[in-house]
Amino acid sequence: MKKILFVILLFSTVFASAQKFQNLALTPPMGWNSWNKFQCNVSEKLIKETADALVSTGMRDAGYQYIVIDDCWQVGRDSMGFIIPDPERFPSGIKALADYVHSKGLKFGIYSCAGTKTCAGRPGGRGHEFQDAYMYAKWGVDYLKYDWCSSDGQNQKESYKLMSRMLKEAGRPIVFSICEWGGSKPWEWAGEVGHLWRTTGDITDCFDCENKHPGYSNWGVMKILDMQKDMRQYAGPGHWNDPDMLEVGNGGMKENEDRAHFSMWCMIAAPLIAGNELKNMSAQTHAILTNADAIAINQDVLGIQGLKYKSEDGLETWLKPLSGGDWAICFLNRSAVSKMIEFDWMKNVVSDTVSNRKLDAAGEVFKIKDVWAKKELGNTQKVLKAEVKSHDVLMVRLSLVKK
Ligand code: GLA
Repeated sequence: MKKILFVILLFSTVFASAQKFQNLALTPPMGWNSWNKFQCNVSEKLIKETADALVSTGMRDAGYQYIVIDDCWQVGRDSMGFIIPDPERFPSGIKALADYVHSKGLKFGIYSCAGTKTCAGRPGGRGHEFQDAYMYAKWGVDYLKYDWCSSDGQNQKESYKLMSRMLKEAGRPIVFSICEWGGSKPWEWAGEVGHLWRTTGDITDCFDCENKHPGYSNWGVMKILDMQKDMRQYAGPGHWNDPDMLEVGNGGMKENEDRAHFSMWCMIAAPLIAGNELKNMSAQTHAILTNADAIAINQDVLGIQGLKYKSEDGLETWLKPLSGGDWAICFLNRSAVSKMIEFDWMKNVVSDTVSNRKLDAAGEVFKIKDVWAKKELGNTQKVLKAEVKSHDVLMVRLSLVKK
């Protein structure tokens, strides 16, 4: 009898701990991460200032919740193997910083790596998984981004499953952000392991460039967008494709390009992790990052990743089914010249096999709202005519008019 009980207990622990934390990231995570703007230049001063700015700019109230310190907060391990935060840059320790972030009504995130070293050469998590998970839980970490440098000979799925299990064992609900750059097609296996997974190499702050380095490239936002093919069926509440953090406000793109970048990240239900300096951001950057209608499209409770419906001569039409029978439509002009659109809703009946939704303006009437101009554009009984400037978008929400 005792033996049977033991076996049952063993099985239930193994099965219970094989699963990630449930009921987290039910909509795409929103927050801020230090890497895109600050790289290794992180400190408790920066994180505190950023927490203050998230509140004072209204970004927290717009939905941005997690503040994530990326690489370079860690400098070594002690004789017992515990991770040591940089004592000069984080003199009060990580726990005190997490407490500060929490006191602002925000959540706190941190970075490590499944390999022996992080991408900036700091100590990685390999061989210390439980010890690290335990420390994160003790410090009050709410979000862990887990990278893939110095991982020779390791298997992605096994490595991330191990850390996911250790986080679960440590007992504090932590959003687990998998960052292996898409190499093992994590969308096919990571739904049970993490809450979001990077689909590509690192983003860079340009509209459509590729920055080549020996052995890898950094990608502009359009290049990254094109790489999101054939994976939308894997996204949904609690498990998201992650096309990398935002470059909005970092200066490499014009205002219209930042707007197009943000719009497309909303359309494809991407995590919205701002990556700019919040302290002195421009009014334009602020308006992009806090547009409530755009964010509502991204955060829609159904969590359906949008689809590319048409592409003609540099003008793309994207659709995203929303709750309540609504839809988001985004006309993206990737070309170098302005484009006129004439969109006849009656002639564009769209069936989406992934969400099982049908957009049929012949059978239903929708009101149209321009998300960026913040104005009503009539309804779907009339052909929509508008100009979309180069490297810009027209993003609208169709709201079902109840009969
Ligand atoms: C990798 C990741 C980036 C960032 C850096 C930090 O390149 O993909 O997002 O975390 O490492 O070194």
